[in-house]
Amino acid sequence: MSRECGHFLELVDIDRVALEEILGLSRMANLPRLLEGKGVAMMFEKPSNRTRNATEMAVVALGGHPVYIAGHEVGLDFRETAEDVARTLACYHSIVCVRVVSHATLVRMAAALDAASSSTRIVNLLSDLAHPCQALADMLTLQEHFGTVHGRHLAYVGDSNNVCRSVASAAVMLGMKVAVASPQGYWLSDSEIDAVRRLGELAGGELVVTLDPREAVSGADAVYTDVWVSMGQEDEERERRAAFSGFTVNEDLMSVASANAAVLHCLPAHRGEEISAGVLDGASSLVWKQAENRMHAMRGLLAWMCGARLATINGQHP
Ligand code: CP
Ligand code: NVA
Repeated sequence: MSRECGHFLELVDIDRVALEEILGLSRMANLPRLLEGKGVAMMFEKPSNRTRNATEMAVVALGGHPVYIAGHEVGLDFRETAEDVARTLACYHSIVCVRVVSHATLVRMAAALDAASSSTRIVNLLSDLAHPCQALADMLTLQEHFGTVHGRHLAYVGDSNNVCRSVASAAVMLGMKVAVASPQGYWLSDSEIDAVRRLGELAGGELVVTLDPREAVSGADAVYTDVWVSMGQEDEERERRAAFSGFTVNEDLMSVASANAAVLHCLPAHRGEEISAGVLDGASSLVWKQAENRMHAMRGLLAWMCGARLATINGQHP
């Protein structure tokens, strides 16, 4: 494993050059089997459809051996500490991919491996804070759709959650103008807004936040939304449904976006809540391309973590 790259817990862990490299590698059909003879653990404390399948197939495509682990089997911080789980998995695996309830668990696992001078790297497959692998697939999807995304306007409507943080971060790193509309109480914090803006500085990316979905979506080239109630927030369902009423991405809201604006959703989706069926299943929807790109983006990320670089790989573009 190349020590050039560290753990991938958030977009801030990579720079713009690395992001472009990963996306470029993701577009290559035939990457070398850089994980030949190596193990990749995939541990989930929460359910998953896309992430589990995309990661598993990406590992296989690179010649590696994926091992699925349900969090409750390992008993993360119950049967043994997250640190000890990480140290143990590092005995067998080059990369340990984890979906966690709390981002702090990922940070502890990464710190334990660093303290042990392990070459094994942690990848965030979704935490309460971030969903960076989703954002890679989203950027790949937007690049495929628009060619270059620099200067394009991306609106995100809904909860300023894990997906929002990561997609906004990746988008500004590529020079996009991001407008996030969330109701009062569901915004990114001031420090998070500052952090995203800093990530966009080099590429000329911008972030604005508003309470008004129409303001965010007005003239947008692409409109993104995610569930109002994320995994683990089921207790807040009633208050969240009330708070987000008026934030549905529907035909009326899309009418103020650019003509044929692209529609994105990380899935799973709730038709009639955060997005109307007509918009999700409409001609401008890229959601199935996004789902497919989860696998390609994962392949690109894992290859990059194994040291692959565009300049030295003679791949083919699909
Ligand atoms: N988008 C996404 O992460 O889907 P899953 O929760 O099904 O993995
Ligand atoms: N925000 C959602 C994303 C699911 C892929 C959640 O955390 O449940």
